Amino acid sequence: MGMQSVCGGAGRWRRAVAWWGAVLVLAHLLNCGSAGLLDTNPGLAYNFYATTCPSAEATVRSITWAQVAGNQALPGQLLRLHFHDCFVKGCDASILLDNAQSEKTAPPNGSLGGYPVIDAIKAQLEKACPGVVSCADIVALAARDAVSYQFKASLWQVETGRRDGPVSLASNTGALPSPSAGFNGLLQSFAAKGLDVNDLVALSGAHTIGKASCSSVTPRLYQGNATSIDPLLDSTYAKTLMNACPNTPASTSTVDLDGATPFKFDGNYYTNLQNKRGVLASDAALTQNAAAATIVNDLTNPIKFYAAFSMSMKKMGRVDVLTLKNGQGKIRTKCNVP
Ligand code: HEM
Repeated sequence: MGMQSVCGGAGRWRRAVAWWGAVLVLAHLLNCGSAGLLDTNPGLAYNFYATTCPSAEATVRSITWAQVAGNQALPGQLLRLHFHDCFVKGCDASILLDNAQSEKTAPPNGSLGGYPVIDAIKAQLEKACPGVVSCADIVALAARDAVSYQFKASLWQVETGRRDGPVSLASNTGALPSPSAGFNGLLQSFAAKGLDVNDLVALSGAHTIGKASCSSVTPRLYQGNATSIDPLLDSTYAKTLMNACPNTPASTSTVDLDGATPFKFDGNYYTNLQNKRGVLASDAALTQNAAAATIVNDLTNPIKFYAAFSMSMKKMGRVDVLTLKNGQGKIRTKCNVP
């Protein structure tokens, strides 16, 4: 079963669950109407593997869905993996490499997960079409499909044709935004990747699923080692977070990034932000800039969120890609070995 063209897959939509189906169709109509943004395509294409490995996208989806069915932490992990790949030397699967001092060894990447899913997909695709499908594309497709499991339909389209890069260095991970960054710092990190405030706010909506380690949250709860709480955090919610995350540096606990609907990719994140229930300081920072706060308000509407998220994911998926067009990169045989 091949992946459907989201702008054209009428049969697929008929089979979709009624409410989600309607929401997704509307989101895609909005999204497909903005195809002009694809003009800067550096050599990616939809269904890049249609002739060279026709089973590629179906294989990614079936393995991802099977894994997600047994592990509800995976959508968050795989989505974040794609983000951390793209922001460091572009979407080139550098995050997967296992050399000394690789990106994986850097603190911001310590809590990443989902690698075994990528390896399982790669192993299967190497059997079906040796040396054809890049690890970078598998990461991008698996992120999409992990989220799509909830809807049984793709929320965004993924361009493919990325190639894999040979370099992975922890010292490059400074490109990742910090959870303690203020609005300007976040915007700068995104601008360095060609992304704007719309992308920043839309992509932060990924925090509508997944978890954060207590160490990412406690600086807001116990400021200056005392119990003074970040004023941008609702005090009742702060107590909930404090119960989950006591003031002990060794705590290995986690909290949900969306305390209300932690496993639903529903954009409830934005309502949380408006209620001072964003978990990270970087989430709360989006309410501290007038333009961003307006976008936050817009994206409380799930249809607008899905459309905006889809569009920004396409942009993020193009960041500094290596392609046949620019003559860079290669197809790895094993994703962790250059
Ligand atoms: C705006 C800047 C961002 C910052 C500062 C940030 C920071 C973080 C931090 C600190 C965590 C928790 C990690 C931990 O404590 O273990 C996290 C989790 C997560 N982030 Fe972000 N993030 C940002 C943007 C994004 C974007 C653009 C995406 C994807 C499009 C994303 C997807 C996720 C997901 C899905 C999780 C949950 C991971 C899991 O459950 O394992 N984040 N982020």
